[in-house]
Amino acid sequence: MRLQMYRHLQQLSPRFYARTRLGDVMSRINNDVGEIQRIAAETALAWVGNALFLCGTIAMLAWLDVRLFLVTIATAPLGVWLLARYRTTLEAEIATLRQRSADIGSFLIETLQAVKLVVTSNAQEREVARFRERNAAFVRALMSMQRLTYLSGGLPGLILSGGTGLVFIYGGLRVIRGEITVGTFVAFMAYQMRFLPPLQALMGMYANLATVRVSLRRVSQILDETVEVREAPTAVALPAVCGDVTFEDVTLSFDRGAPALDHLSFSVRAGEVLAIVGPSGSGKSTIADLLLRLLDPDRGVVRIDGRDIRTVRLDDLRRHVALVDQEPSILHAAIAENIRYARPGATDAEVNAAVHQAALDDFIARLPEGLATVVGERGMALSAGERQRVAVARAFLMNPSVLVLDEPTAALDPESERQLADGYEAVMRGRTTIVITHRLELARRADRVLEIDGAHLRQPHAV
Ligand SMILES: Nc1ncnc2c1ncn2[C@@H]1O[C@H](COP(=O)(O)OP(=O)(O)OP(=O)(O)O)[C@@H](O)[C@H]1O
Ligand SMILES: [Mg+2]
Repeated sequence: MRLQMYRHLQQLSPRFYARTRLGDVMSRINNDVGEIQRIAAETALAWVGNALFLCGTIAMLAWLDVRLFLVTIATAPLGVWLLARYRTTLEAEIATLRQRSADIGSFLIETLQAVKLVVTSNAQEREVARFRERNAAFVRALMSMQRLTYLSGGLPGLILSGGTGLVFIYGGLRVIRGEITVGTFVAFMAYQMRFLPPLQALMGMYANLATVRVSLRRVSQILDETVEVREAPTAVALPAVCGDVTFEDVTLSFDRGAPALDHLSFSVRAGEVLAIVGPSGSGKSTIADLLLRLLDPDRGVVRIDGRDIRTVRLDDLRRHVALVDQEPSILHAAIAENIRYARPGATDAEVNAAVHQAALDDFIARLPEGLATVVGERGMALSAGERQRVAVARAFLMNPSVLVLDEPTAALDPESERQLADGYEAVMRGRTTIVITHRLELARRADRVLEIDGAHLRQPHAV
């Protein structure tokens, strides 16, 4: 189940991640699946044993004396009714508890990732107060659930044990009247004592179903999230591409009203270097996302070599089109591993060449462990420009037919920027490069500049 969730999460679009709290997803994949596992493991075999034991006991009780047996089970309907009612209430309590626990997780992930902001805004105490609030809400939910478990959870069991008292009184009377022997009564009571434990165990398992139901619901909420970008069953393999890219009347809206891209059309010839410029928020990064099918357009078509990319196998598309994201992701691993991420089989020589082309060699040479240096989580142990260049080296190593660079030099000094531009010109000679940039130097080097503004295209002009 965990694996299935993880696979599903990998397929969900940036839209999903933009509206979902990571802590909530983590709590579902960790805690909820964990609860289901725990209860499944505890219950799977135990219920068989208990059910068998209970059936045997019932058979013996009925065989020993039918009337006493009827008294024994007289209270059962009330107990079962109470149990069913209790389970509904318990389910609501458990759902609240899970949500509170997810709140804590989300809070921690968010504020610890933004710890610099918290400290520099003097917001430590404010965040501590918010944390305390969430903790208190969790404890309240926990206590409320525990109270319910102790107070009403024991009630059905209590009622059933009340039945034992009735059996004693009624059985005693029948012995006095001489209707049954003391031997039968003693035997009956011995079985009656064995009647309750398996019944109570089964009732506990039934109450556990409340937990399982809550967790299953929370898991299925994730599994039911629609996958926006799917590979068509008829998708064709694309062994090689020339690198012609066309956007035909592409429109895409996020759920905020005005479309981020509005009837956008442009094309890039194979081998061309196209710079895309335009103000912040004009939809440049969205173009990159569309080209890699992280999103699909609401209307219009994106083509590569004249082929609608929705008809192409996703892994082929993403092998031929490499993206250096505006905020590149760096993993907690050696720099070499980070660079090899999309092509784990690359040789050392190839990695070194990519390092050189991405203007990283001076930096690597200064590190005592060179390419084997492990960079911290999210690349925190790197400067912004170093992170960008590691991401560029990673894309160069993929040797793609189309390279999309989203603000690759935003954090670089002019000299490193020049080296990096030389690098991609060398790597991508004869192949297609789309470089999204605010920097004059990069736009100047392009064969053509495309200016977009407010989701529209301005007249393209040559430089
Ligand atoms: N997941 C999302 N949900 C809602 N709106 C979004 C989402 N992602 C992007 N947008 C909006 O779409 C518009 C285009 O965003 P995009 O990232 O493409 O801009 P950009 O041109 O790359 O800007 P910048 O130069 O600042 O990187 C923006 O107005 C942005 O707020
Ligand atoms: Mg952008």
